Amino acid sequence: MTTILKIGGSVLTDKNKVSAARPDVIARIAKEIGEIDSGKLVLIHGAGSFGHHQAKDYKLTDGLNDWSIKGIWPTHSAVTSLNRMVVDALQMSGVDAIPVNPLSSCTLSGGRIEHMCLDVIELMLQDDITPVLHGDVVMDRDRGVDILSGDQIVPYLARELKVDRVGIGTNVDGVLDRDGKLIRKLTPGNMGEVDKILSGSGGVDVTGGMHGKIHELMPLAKVGIPSLVFNAEKPGNVMKFLKNDLQEGTFIRGD
Ligand SMILES: Nc1ncnc2c1ncn2[C@@H]1O[C@H](COP(=O)(O)OP(=O)(O)O)[C@@H](O)[C@H]1O
Ligand SMILES: [Mg+2]
Repeated sequence: MTTILKIGGSVLTDKNKVSAARPDVIARIAKEIGEIDSGKLVLIHGAGSFGHHQAKDYKLTDGLNDWSIKGIWPTHSAVTSLNRMVVDALQMSGVDAIPVNPLSSCTLSGGRIEHMCLDVIELMLQDDITPVLHGDVVMDRDRGVDILSGDQIVPYLARELKVDRVGIGTNVDGVLDRDGKLIRKLTPGNMGEVDKILSGSGGVDVTGGMHGKIHELMPLAKVGIPSLVFNAEKPGNVMKFLKNDLQEGTFIRGD
């Protein structure tokens, strides 16, 4: 059994500030992960306030130029400092977690993952090591450089590693309708309606917020890998997800 768990930057950091972590939340989630042996686990975390602001200031999504080239290091440096906190907390909780930095192991083409050095991830999983990836600035064949969101890493790895389960922990209960009510199940059948609700849900997130997430997860569901978007701010939810025991959130399915 292989599981991908993505924890949003909105959960681990304070998105309204620059590079502000929430160490108590990071420690709690790391502890929940350490308590459950869910088989092989790949963790992905968002950048949150570590990186989004830098990416915006240096206009990293506009491609490579004299200004944005200066933003590669501050952006990568910020996200890897968050990654270090996450990996440290996981290690403290007994998880054999090791970072895999996308900037150093991945290329993009037109903003999409073109290549990722999967061997290192596969070998880690074979040895029951938990690779921890994250949103990052990444070299792009067409644009020079672009932002790779954790949300895009999820379906790429889910397909390549043929994972069994995908969980997306975020700071809301799941996908909400116009009245703020939770949509329990998202399928190709109701996707059109939900798409209208979600357009423009990006906010400070340069990678598209909930809209971006769903657009990554629905194609994955269509090829037979369902996912669950749930509230990771609620203590116990990560643990329940890993135990395959979480009944809350939005299930994204192909039928
Ligand atoms: N219809 C919606 N349902 C749920 N969340 C939405 C919706 N529209 C906008 N959002 C926003 O999307 C956010 C989740 O995306 P994001 O901030 O990128 O989280 P993460 O850090 O987990 O990637 C929510 O906090 C919410 O503000
Ligand atoms: Mg996001």
